[in-house]
Amino acid sequence: MPTAREVFAGGLAVVTGAGAGIGAGLTRHLAGDLGMTVIAADVDAEAVHRIAGELGRHVVPHVVDVRDPDAVDRLARHVEEEFGPVRLLINNAGVEQFGYLWDVSPTNWQRVVEVNISGVFHGIRAFLPGMIAAGGRSHVLSLASIGAVTSLPLQAPYIMSKHAVLAMTECLHQEVAEVGADIVVSAVLPGLVESDIFRSAGGVESGDVAAAEEQRRTMLAIREQAISADEAAEAIVAQAARGEFYIVTHPELVHAAMAARAEQLVNRRPPAPHRSRFAAAEQARRRMRRQSR
Ligand SMILES: NC(=O)c1ccc[n+]([C@@H]2O[C@H](COP(=O)([O-])OP(=O)(O)OC[C@H]3O[C@@H](n4cnc5c(N)ncnc54)[C@H](O)[C@@H]3O)[C@@H](O)[C@H]2O)c1
Repeated sequence: MPTAREVFAGGLAVVTGAGAGIGAGLTRHLAGDLGMTVIAADVDAEAVHRIAGELGRHVVPHVVDVRDPDAVDRLARHVEEEFGPVRLLINNAGVEQFGYLWDVSPTNWQRVVEVNISGVFHGIRAFLPGMIAAGGRSHVLSLASIGAVTSLPLQAPYIMSKHAVLAMTECLHQEVAEVGADIVVSAVLPGLVESDIFRSAGGVESGDVAAAEEQRRTMLAIREQAISADEAAEAIVAQAARGEFYIVTHPELVHAAMAARAEQLVNRRPPAPHRSRFAAAEQARRRMRRQSR
């Protein structure tokens, strides 16, 4: 099996959402450990300039909003003209959203759809033609989540978006095979990884605000079980180098979620209570106790 160094060392990578969390971990690993040139793209200018400052000339910061198709096109053209063929594209930028679905504002719904789903699509649309034309082997990774193979309450827009990313990536895998392009397509399904995602997640402004914020607190609390972004990055890139389609950071957890979903679908069962539902039920009980005092 080829190692990450054999496959990626010295090549060119583009990472969206490179300013924090998993994207920053990937940027550190690819540039720092593997000597790739990394185009670190993020909507947060300060964050990408900071990471570029830390890692030196191997990291080129780019401020781009993945929701903007023209901006992603301009980035792709610039990268191809200035740096040459992309060996590794990682569509990583993503945002979270808490709250009951009926309480989520259209603006926050749109944010999740545009960043998590359209952002991945724009990355593929802007970079794939150049990668196919370049001819050599290249890799495309898109960040889904363990949430792409399960469902849970109070995070519906996010979970929906990750199912969409997984479906898009499965289709893309078949399409590159159909046209005979030498592009290895992978979906990344991380479990809990240290990052800013729950802190910066959208909440709700009306309806059950407390339930949304309680879910945020629950996720921030379970984050203590998270692995570091650097550890996740190393695992992700090693599996990408081996050409795996389903890339995971927590194999046992993700396999259990996949098995549970397969069982649910095969037996046409409604979604089973998720662990977080117990957390939600507990939260509801606590709220009722508070209100009855
Ligand atoms: N951290 C986890 O536990 C976890 C688990 C499963 C999946 N994921 C997925 O991993 C990816 C990275 O998440 P993270 O946890 O590192 O999050 P994070 O919030 O730490 O980092 C996300 C980065 O994306 C950037 N970003 C947000 N909107 C953007 C936009 N419109 N254009 C460009 N950049 C934008 C942010 O500025 C930030 O730097 C996401 O797709 C997320 O859904 C994370």
